[in-house]
Amino acid sequence: MTTATTGTTPAKGSHGTPHTRVEGPEKVTGAARYAGDIPFPELAHGWLALSTVARGRIRSVEAEPVLAMPGVLAVLHHGNAPHVNTDYVGLLGAPDPTAAVFQTDRVPHRGWPVALVVAETSEQAREAAEALVVRYEEEPHDIAFAAGRPDAYAPGGHRGPAVEAKGDLEAELASSAVVLDEEYTTPEEHHNPMEPHAAAARWEDGRLEVVDSNQGSTWVVNELAQLFSLDASSVRVRSEHVGGAFGSKGVRAHQVAAVMAATVLQRPVRVVLTRRQMFSLIGYRSPTTQRIRLGADDDGRLRALEHDSLSLTSTVHEFVEGSAGVGRVMYDADAHHTANRIVRLDVPSPTFMRAPGEAPGSFALESALDELAEKCGIDPIALRARNDPQTGPVSGLPFSSRNLMACFDEGARRFGWAERDPRPRMRREGRWLLGTGTAAASFPARAVPSTAAVTAEADGTFTVRITAADIGTGARTALTLVAAEALEVDPDQVRVRIGDSDFGQAMIAGGSMGTRSWAWAVTAAASDLREQLALGGSIPPEGITTRSDTSAAIGALAATERHTFGAQFAEVAVDTATGEVRVRRMLGVFAAGRIVNPLTARGQLVGGMTWGISMALHEEAVRDQASGGVVGSDLAGYHVAANADVPHLEADWVDDPDPNDPVGIKGIGEIGIVGAAAAVANAVWHATGVRHRNLPIRPDRVL
Ligand code: MOS
Repeated sequence: MTTATTGTTPAKGSHGTPHTRVEGPEKVTGAARYAGDIPFPELAHGWLALSTVARGRIRSVEAEPVLAMPGVLAVLHHGNAPHVNTDYVGLLGAPDPTAAVFQTDRVPHRGWPVALVVAETSEQAREAAEALVVRYEEEPHDIAFAAGRPDAYAPGGHRGPAVEAKGDLEAELASSAVVLDEEYTTPEEHHNPMEPHAAAARWEDGRLEVVDSNQGSTWVVNELAQLFSLDASSVRVRSEHVGGAFGSKGVRAHQVAAVMAATVLQRPVRVVLTRRQMFSLIGYRSPTTQRIRLGADDDGRLRALEHDSLSLTSTVHEFVEGSAGVGRVMYDADAHHTANRIVRLDVPSPTFMRAPGEAPGSFALESALDELAEKCGIDPIALRARNDPQTGPVSGLPFSSRNLMACFDEGARRFGWAERDPRPRMRREGRWLLGTGTAAASFPARAVPSTAAVTAEADGTFTVRITAADIGTGARTALTLVAAEALEVDPDQVRVRIGDSDFGQAMIAGGSMGTRSWAWAVTAAASDLREQLALGGSIPPEGITTRSDTSAAIGALAATERHTFGAQFAEVAVDTATGEVRVRRMLGVFAAGRIVNPLTARGQLVGGMTWGISMALHEEAVRDQASGGVVGSDLAGYHVAANADVPHLEADWVDDPDPNDPVGIKGIGEIGIVGAAAAVANAVWHATGVRHRNLPIRPDRVL
């Protein structure tokens, strides 16, 4: 394998040895319990009622008839719900008022929570919620997302500035031998984790306890404490097993509604969302329209790079799908201009979803690079090599490590890229046209301060406690291996306990930063413990515990460009009779730091690539202009790649340990999807000679 090592080569301990999931047997035998499964004595059930209008005011909530229905205990709405505080700045900025339910009679979008019906059983609550009459004063709504909206603006971004620029764009474009100017679009996309959101809340000895399904229990504690004006220490959130999240499992309406109901009724209340409710309550990925202008010399050297992205947000919360950010890392140009703009519409608030920004941004930019390569008559990989920067193209900062071209070298060799005829529409097999395509990937590699505790038990085993979340990534297993290595013991001697906010502040499972941030804290505590144990002496019955806090170490990191990179390759077959596109194979080669557990890492990367196929060919939420809602808001109407759509996928990596991380990790959460849709789209062009700049590449668009 091609290697491009910038740090020390990992060779020690338990890393790198494939390890099955430590909680695997619990999951496959059904012993693992999810938030919706855990029983409580006296549990009552809440069901959310959502607005049926896209904009207006609630005139009345006719609770009386519903309160007379069997088992109904309460109807909470803006007229009687407890007040919550939304005047704070949380981990991810100001709270989304969608979660702060029942505070106003205003309805800012269809599917806005207007009431919670609580009953003895879930069925009674649902029956009553569906019978609940809510009257509205309806107002005209505007959900028309399109390029060129005069009300679009460049906000203060939470992922870097909205606009970054250097050089004279128009002058460089004017003096470029080759110019490309195209618009790319991606549709509204929804997370759809398998496990719906669910939370049970109860008051226990003056403490609020929430059993939840989330991406970070300290995050949920902090938000709930702020919303309900509680001390964070009087809130405990647990989330032991999570059946997928993809960015959607933060604080949402159902947790807040459950806490309100538990407070009002003084008994435990659980609120579970339905698949349909998830289409308006948990966030989604905004559609994008992205204009890209590239100017290059004949040999493909970029003189100008412009990436202007428009996404939408709701009228109540500002979220930016920062698609234009990807170019700030990928390619240098004499003039560089990237802008993220948004427009506010009468729609639910979008949120983080599967490589927010990078996933749609890389579709546009990496498609444009492929088009430029065609125009310049040079190989797409050679074009990327020609524009591979030595330092951050806009920041000027050095890269902590940048092994993009090592990924392309290794990927091209294994994929058989050298044998490719660059001309489109040259390979035919019966009614199928065949083609191959490639694209680059990158994602930020950061770490966030976290705390951990490691205990040497009297029986010779070790217990790690950290408020991590395993949302299906295998994080619990990775942390077991990390702890075992730091302790220099067998992984079987280590148990890792996660998903309990009482274990202390820790990073969420998000931004590709979870495992890295937690591993740092676990390694610090475990290394301290190993040193203590090396001094000798017996272990008392309560064990010996060491604790870590990585704030200082992470705060001391030098300013550099820190990213993972990757090269995606796809081969597709296009049916000229039906317009159907079939992905035949994909290969992703990544430079993503040290890989702790090859088994689950491969699963994570292949999972991301699968979502890339899904993004390229299937996923598309259609919002109805008349009602303001999503048409077909279920897994029958919203298509995701299923088994038959996914051929044998390969993911692998080059050696790329992070030089600044104690374990060498960079984070592999999201890089797998980045560039994947562009690789598929570029392969469709190669097969057919037709560019697809609008996702998904549906059969009717191919024909
Ligand atoms: Mo990820 S979209 O940061 O959960």
